[in-house]
Amino acid sequence: MAEIESAIAPHLRTERVVPGNTPDNFKPPFEIYASRYPPLMKELVFAIIGVQYSSSELNDGVAMEKLISFISSTAVPNHLRPTLGEVAAMTDNRSHYNIAMLAYWPDRRTWNEWSEQTGFQEWWSGLDPTNQQNGWFLEVFFPTMDRFETILTDTTMREGASYMRDNVSGPVLEHGYWGSMRDRLPVAQVDELVGEKAFLQAGGPKRPSTLTSRVRVPGKRNLAVIRSGQDWKETLPKERDLYLKMMRPALQAGMDFLHDHGDEVGCYSNRFMDIVGPNGETGKDRSFGLGYFDDLASLEAWSKSHPTHVNIFAVFMKYAKEMNNELSLHLYHEVSVLESSQQLFEYVSCHANTGMLASIRDND
Ligand code: HEM
Repeated sequence: MAEIESAIAPHLRTERVVPGNTPDNFKPPFEIYASRYPPLMKELVFAIIGVQYSSSELNDGVAMEKLISFISSTAVPNHLRPTLGEVAAMTDNRSHYNIAMLAYWPDRRTWNEWSEQTGFQEWWSGLDPTNQQNGWFLEVFFPTMDRFETILTDTTMREGASYMRDNVSGPVLEHGYWGSMRDRLPVAQVDELVGEKAFLQAGGPKRPSTLTSRVRVPGKRNLAVIRSGQDWKETLPKERDLYLKMMRPALQAGMDFLHDHGDEVGCYSNRFMDIVGPNGETGKDRSFGLGYFDDLASLEAWSKSHPTHVNIFAVFMKYAKEMNNELSLHLYHEVSVLESSQQLFEYVSCHANTGMLASIRDND
């Protein structure tokens, strides 16, 4: 059996100024792993480039085709192309259909060069918000590696940023107790990561409707971003049935709560998205929650104490027991806690509750 090691990669370990939460002599109840990135990799880029329609019937595929043309453009050298580009979709609580390209690059410079050389930047800047058939959103995160952590339920799976890893850790120590996510984040060794605990209140001058505007939303100090995913495509009938009848409804309830009532727990935006084909084809058996929280503490509090995640956790324990802990379900988390300058949010012709627009909600 591989030896337990810290989730923090050796080159990112430093003397703790902020105490960790690992109980003394702690032994994790089961194994999970962390992706290991090349020590020379100082940052990564995670972009969500999305399209919004007032209803799914309006998705004629043209907008996504446009995005795909940039993502898979052969006009740029291979190394500028994203290491991963995949499409995901969700219908939000205003019945709008959101379909987005999720893509990763190994650093900001590669992203900048890709944006320029494919023509993406010029096209994006040229979108006229007053005459769009659909909304567009651009949410880009540039975490330095000390502000990023991934966990995976097995060593062979790859999701999201893990396509850029060069290795996988042994079973990690920091999991299986509340507060372990924070202990896995290298920067939390020296920083309490306090965020801006505030939703801007309504008031002040009325802005034009976001449906006909381009709005850039400023980054927030220590915004916490989680992508927490599920892959059940390898499950056999018994487990699949359990997943779809027991686990997924519990997860859906938690995701709905964050989407509909996120402001009660410091969550600006939460999308529960299914991985889909380029035209929105469903049935890929992979999904993820993508949540933006005002503070890592808010994300911790929701996961530890809110009945919806407490229930997700309890149902998962039951599910694992029913399967005698022999799971073909794969789970992963990616968490970043970002400086304001490591975030880019821009919305063109989107409704006012889209992504971080919710943080400046004042009309609509
Ligand atoms: C932690 C289950 C989805 C947020 C955990 C843990 C379990 C769990 C077992 C403890 C892990 C450990 O430390 O060993 C699940 C299952 C899910 C799911 C089975 C879906 C099927 C989500 C989603 C989110 C989320 C979608 C947020 C969008 C968190 C957070 C923690 C956590 C933030 C870490 C808490 C901490 O360490 O302080 N979850 N979860 N989970 N979960 Fe979930």
